[in-house]
Amino acid sequence: MKASEIRQKFLDFQVKRGHKVIPPAPLVLENDPTTLFTGSGMQPLLPYLLGEPHPDGKRLTDSQPSMRLQDIEDVGDPRHTTVFEMLGNWSLGDYFKKEQITSFFEFLVKEVGLDPHKIYVTCFIGNKKYGIPKDDEAAKIWQDVFKSAGIDAKIAEIGSAEEGDRRGIKEGEHIFFYDDHENWWSRGGGIETTPLGDPCGPDSEVFYDFGEDKQDVEKYGQSHPASDGARFMEIGNQVFMQYRRKEDGTFEELEHKNVDFGGGLERITAASIDSFDVFKISLLKPIIDKLEEISGKSYDNNTDEMRIIADHLRGVYLLTAQGLAPSNKQQGYALRRLIRRAVLKALDLGIAQDFIAEVVPIIAENYADLPDSILTHRESAIPALEKEERVFRQTLNKGLKEMKKLARKDGLSLLTGFDLFKLQDTYGFPFEVSVEEAYRENIELSKNYKAEFDEALKEQRERSKTASKGMFKGGLEDHGEMSTKYHTATHLTLAALQKLVDKDIHQKGSNITPERMRLDFNLDRKLTEEEKQAVEDQVNAWISEDLPVTFAEYDKEYARDKLGAEGQFWEKYDDTVKVYTVSGKDAPISVEICGGPHVKHTGELGKFKIKKEESSAAGIRRIKAVLE
Ligand code: ALA
Repeated sequence: MKASEIRQKFLDFQVKRGHKVIPPAPLVLENDPTTLFTGSGMQPLLPYLLGEPHPDGKRLTDSQPSMRLQDIEDVGDPRHTTVFEMLGNWSLGDYFKKEQITSFFEFLVKEVGLDPHKIYVTCFIGNKKYGIPKDDEAAKIWQDVFKSAGIDAKIAEIGSAEEGDRRGIKEGEHIFFYDDHENWWSRGGGIETTPLGDPCGPDSEVFYDFGEDKQDVEKYGQSHPASDGARFMEIGNQVFMQYRRKEDGTFEELEHKNVDFGGGLERITAASIDSFDVFKISLLKPIIDKLEEISGKSYDNNTDEMRIIADHLRGVYLLTAQGLAPSNKQQGYALRRLIRRAVLKALDLGIAQDFIAEVVPIIAENYADLPDSILTHRESAIPALEKEERVFRQTLNKGLKEMKKLARKDGLSLLTGFDLFKLQDTYGFPFEVSVEEAYRENIELSKNYKAEFDEALKEQRERSKTASKGMFKGGLEDHGEMSTKYHTATHLTLAALQKLVDKDIHQKGSNITPERMRLDFNLDRKLTEEEKQAVEDQVNAWISEDLPVTFAEYDKEYARDKLGAEGQFWEKYDDTVKVYTVSGKDAPISVEICGGPHVKHTGELGKFKIKKEESSAAGIRRIKAVLE
């Protein structure tokens, strides 16, 4: 079956069950500072999952283009893609576990035609610390559902995925209990990392079995649904969204219990053709075919590279066709990285000429039936990508020239690892490309080039760590009470500027003394009197709401890509960063990387007053403000 057929069958099936089809949201969500890209169908529905009535009722369905950059390192295996379509259906306080589980099983078996013997499922084992019970209810419903298909499904308690790798599964088992790393769903992952204020709950995932021979036991251990091996593939996740994480970190039951179902269209399609490689489905195979044609190489011998290029170009097309342009910040930067990675992987295949404009029309054709309301910039997407590719190739060519110059500098034809580092650091010419090109150009590499490169990289990291420590100290010399308050006031001021003046405003510097705060930010004009007043009023309004200020430590990449945290010194931060959040009633007001300290509640700040707004440098404005 083709992906487009399965998409249509799913929507029709849900409409028959009383759901309304809602239009998908764009990949770049306005007004959601918590994530870079729409990563699931539920994201645009957050307010409704928390109880606000939806104009289309209590049963909704859609197919949502989604992007998960956190999976980028996994792309290259048979099943991971950064961009995918998520089939979704939601019950907003309407039906619950029984109807969801029964109907999804029916969809898979009757509509898609999957063999029920190849379906395996998982449920939540419970969590004592937070008093969340084991989901026996879901497991029992599954048993009944399997029974209706003539299968006597046995239940097994696994716990962690590592335990599963050791134990494997036993004859007749189809239902497995796992811990919160596998069977708890929130936008932050497991139970401990559930964002404050977010809806969440136990989930029940559904897997398709591609056969025992697909499991690489030496590499991944015994096969079981949550294994990283290729035997089982997750094709759908039913979240029983019955909790909300409170600001104090505990969980409360939602008044209306919701179902949030998400199923990967690409993966369900792969299961329907019994292919454990999702790149063989109708949405991806034509891209691979084209890459084979352009490179003159085979997919079988260049699988990883071709998967990465196909995946990235698909994401790149969907983003540019929605109007995003490559840039050096946030979503635009992610887009630029995807384009560059695709070009570099193409170089590995020997494609040294512009090729994006040859591949992208095939992707555009695949998405001809996505609504115009989403793909608002279909026409300009290809020219924009052509230009970006051209510019990047110029950078690469310049790097190549510099490389040749460096190699010849002592009358030799040799590059050390220190040279390779310089090429990457100064000319943006990646290490791997240097190595390949050196080989092609008959330039010798020093014996220890890799170790030398690593040493130079390490030195640079240490230098910048020292620099960033100094920098934070500079802004935070005084940990006294007033400075702590000004620190929180600075975060609120930035958030107010983003909300009221321009969402692309970011901090360009700050200085705090016990007497006042100073914040520099990018804007190429003066603030109007009205804007100044509005920012001041907004900060005072947040102060009078007495909002909680909390912090947690995160992986740097996670903070940037998943939380969309504000940060000024991405290159210089350690791998783990501290993120401070000021939580509003419905959504966070400010999410910012910061060493702290901060007040615990905004109410402690007193009255905020802007004293001055002036120019600080070209394109940079400065606000001085006091707390009275
Ligand atoms: N929102 C759920 C997920 O992303 C369905 O898995």
